[in-house]
Amino acid sequence: MKRIGVFTSGGDAPGMNAALRAVVRTASGMGVEVVGIRRGYAGMIDGEFVPLGPRDVANIIQRGGTILLTARSKDFMTEAGRATAARNLKEAGIEGLVAIGGDGTFRGAERLIEEHRIPVVGVPGTIDNDLYGTDYTIGFDTAVNTALDAIDRIRDTAASHERVFFIEVMGRYAGFIALEVGIAGGAEVVALPEVSISPEEIARTISASLEKGKRSSIIVVAEGAYPGGAEALFRAVRELSGFEARVTVLGHIQRGGSPTAKDRVLASRLGAVATRTLVGGTSGVMVGEVEGEVTLTPLYEAVTKKKEIDIDLYELARVLSG
Ligand code: F6P
Repeated sequence: MKRIGVFTSGGDAPGMNAALRAVVRTASGMGVEVVGIRRGYAGMIDGEFVPLGPRDVANIIQRGGTILLTARSKDFMTEAGRATAARNLKEAGIEGLVAIGGDGTFRGAERLIEEHRIPVVGVPGTIDNDLYGTDYTIGFDTAVNTALDAIDRIRDTAASHERVFFIEVMGRYAGFIALEVGIAGGAEVVALPEVSISPEEIARTISASLEKGKRSSIIVVAEGAYPGGAEALFRAVRELSGFEARVTVLGHIQRGGSPTAKDRVLASRLGAVATRTLVGGTSGVMVGEVEGEVTLTPLYEAVTKKKEIDIDLYELARVLSG
């Protein structure tokens, strides 16, 4: 390959820039040109291409967000949109792509491969950590630490006012962020989409905590754990028990900020391997890290197979909240 494209797509994640830098510098070291595609699949359709050399990615390893911008493109979901994108890529002499994103990004990549024979290798970039084939996705560690910092602060005011707080964290349909911050933040309850927990059970846990002499409680709620999120869950608990509480939705703060060292290293490693894999002639896979080793997983499996939460960690959270 003489020229490859790289893009970021879907929800941004801290570390995407570090991955982009690794792609550009690895390719450059192999004598391969890199074209940056702005705004993900939307920019592919609109032909928003920019040449990227090693100096263009200087001083971005520490920056959150993505300098290439990102989008969730509706047009790319249509055959006509994908055909336009493929034509633009071919006209620009782009022979293969490194796609940095989550499941929506990889589903789009699969279509490009099947319908237009454009080789693609995926790099897992999402705070949700919900991709099969990698222990961690780029951005997850930073998001967890950002949420944890907020929860620590909320704990100060919860303790001072002797209050219960319901804190909603992101994760879409997955509870990885909630589980990790639940343990690290010493939550009394962790509500995840993967393990059913009722408002009755939460009310009982709060009562038991009060009886044990705990004057404040932190309930961490994954956004997908209960229809309507933390606010609705709190209302259901109040209905049953009369308990008062405050609700905080951490929201998009979890997506921003400078990536942690762990995310920068992961992004650098996976960005480099993805580039070597693509240029070496392999397509339709996502690079990942499993038990410290770099792995390749078919894109299809990465998005269709379910990555399970660590149920032992969940049990640990329950035991330690006693
Ligand atoms: O996939 C990343 C994520 O932040 C999810 O955790 C969340 O559900 C979603 O994106 C929010 O998307 P948007 O920024 O489009 O509202």
